[in-house]
Amino acid sequence: MTYQDIISNHVIKENAIILAIESSCDETACAVLRGRNELLSSEIESSMTEHIKFGGVVPEVASRAHTTALSIVVDRAIKNAGITLKDIDAVAVTYGAGLLGALLVGLSYAKALAYSLQVPLIPVSHIRGHLAAIYLADKKLKPPFISLLASGGHTAIIEVQSYENFNILGGTLDDAVGEAFDKIARVLGLNYPGGPNIERLAKEGKPNIKLPLMLKGKGGYDFSYSGLKTAVINYVHRANQLGEDINKADVACSFQCSAVDVLVEKAILAAKECGVDTVTAGGGVVANGYLRERLNNECAKNGLKVVLPPKNLCTDNAAMIASEGYIQYLKGNFASLDLNASARVGLK
Ligand code: KG4
Ligand code: ZN
Repeated sequence: MTYQDIISNHVIKENAIILAIESSCDETACAVLRGRNELLSSEIESSMTEHIKFGGVVPEVASRAHTTALSIVVDRAIKNAGITLKDIDAVAVTYGAGLLGALLVGLSYAKALAYSLQVPLIPVSHIRGHLAAIYLADKKLKPPFISLLASGGHTAIIEVQSYENFNILGGTLDDAVGEAFDKIARVLGLNYPGGPNIERLAKEGKPNIKLPLMLKGKGGYDFSYSGLKTAVINYVHRANQLGEDINKADVACSFQCSAVDVLVEKAILAAKECGVDTVTAGGGVVANGYLRERLNNECAKNGLKVVLPPKNLCTDNAAMIASEGYIQYLKGNFASLDLNASARVGLK
């Protein structure tokens, strides 16, 4: 029998053990999940410190780091899950979106592992993974709900109608919110990754600088971050030219409020207009304490339930890939071994 025959005859098990691999950016991650939401292990190695001096992720450096870290991270995930290789029922892998070279390292490894174990290979979209992280946070949660996706590459409000069906209500017309955090951090002389550093500095500041409200209160569910970014850059440059001191903490705090408030407002509006009672969120920016606090407070005020992934499941990880992998596994969505990586993969 060929590998393809074996996969075609694979009997779907509800309690399947899925090993997932994520390598789309600078995190090398592997997780082991049993069934829909019993997370047995989740391991991450990051090459972030190697990128700091360049001010952002250098794709070639990230790819090389994945090649050295991957087998170590996989071994650790298997060991910490208390399983052996022969217990694995399927291998899930991020095939996009992300950096092509980085994705290819994880994808090649996953293909080789799936083939050697003669188990199915499950192709997972990174974006769907971010949304599926929520099923690990609340094991009782089921669609429908509204999901706010806020990462380095995506910003969107999504009506999650079922595990499989999504209605994208709106998204960014230009920069993603995480990208805006990273760019403003650079302007303020903060290191990569910008988001956590802006959040830290913002705690010492006040939101006393008037910045554009972007599409707050208008534009449906769409977002635009380029105007906000330009306004902050102009504010800093103008002060530099006049030789005036700026209070960087106030800039960080004012920017964070503007960037986050519009996300919260539109997520709540979506829940009301779609008639659902739960708001969830996913993506690296959801690790932001101010965003979490605002979502919690505003949902409470509006009688909505809010479910947020723990911070370590917001930023890139493989547990979320396993969670989405399980949804695809139940559908029998298996890839053949010629699956290619793709820099752009969306929700659908
Ligand atoms: O989801 P993610 O890890 O990778 C992508 O799929 O893009 O998101 C990374 C983004 C970066 O832009 C980073 O600055 C931002 O998430 N981020 C944060 C925080 N932690 C990560 N933004 C604001 N506050 C944070 N604490
Ligand atoms: Zn991500």
